[in-house]
Amino acid sequence: MTDLPIGVFDSGIGGLTVLRALRKALPSETFLYLGDTARLPYGTKSRETVVRYAVQSTRALWERGIKLLVVACNTASAAALDALRAAYPGLPVVGVVGPGAEAACQASRTGHIAVLATEGTVRGKSYEREILARRPEARVYGQPCQLFVALAEEGWFDGEVTRRTAEAYIRPLLAQAPVDTIVLGCTHFPVLAHAIAAAAGPKVTLVDSAQITARFVTRILEEDRLATSRTTPGAVAFFATDSAERFARVGSLFLGEPIDPNDVTILDL
Ligand code: DGL
Repeated sequence: MTDLPIGVFDSGIGGLTVLRALRKALPSETFLYLGDTARLPYGTKSRETVVRYAVQSTRALWERGIKLLVVACNTASAAALDALRAAYPGLPVVGVVGPGAEAACQASRTGHIAVLATEGTVRGKSYEREILARRPEARVYGQPCQLFVALAEEGWFDGEVTRRTAEAYIRPLLAQAPVDTIVLGCTHFPVLAHAIAAAAGPKVTLVDSAQITARFVTRILEEDRLATSRTTPGAVAFFATDSAERFARVGSLFLGEPIDPNDVTILDL
């Protein structure tokens, strides 16, 4: 059991930012990463559809044998964690919303916290619930930023258009309340951190869930005695539901290291 891989899934390539943090924290673990690229974006879909897609993606990983699942997609974490735990009892499931909320509560002094996310994540209010459970006095401002997903996928991580877009989303929030912390509540947003930080200004702290999710996973592996005993570097197997070439090309930017398209297996869920 301890030598089984950790499964990681996202609606596409954004979750590679989470995989990057997981690999850094757990270099000897092996991973199966599935990006449901054929059905991206999840962020504009109904909750029912996101739950169905998340269960299907998890099944594809489960059938290949995994010891733990990381739902590296904020939209799916917000909508589907309960459904996944019910569908795969015994499989530890870690989402990114709880860890992201934890990071925000630790960082904020004023308790005024903005969450930048997809429409689906903002609509579901799961960040708000997770933050208020930890800091009941907090005020949470959800801001859908769907254009950020397209900019990140285009590889436009910084520059004029991205900075202007960030200003359009963030300036009204900052004019409204003494926000001191912004949660990058979508897998695609950490790669836009420079542009978002420039729009937010130096008094605002940006947090994302990648590192803290990796810490949650490390703790669960230890508590459940699931950590690998290997000491050699672990491998990653990549799966996508559309275009290995695009997954590898854009995904390399998110992962921060090259992905060979020949190493990406295409699945039909
Ligand atoms: N992975 C999604 C998330 O973190 C962003 C992309 C999408 O809308 O599917 O919410």
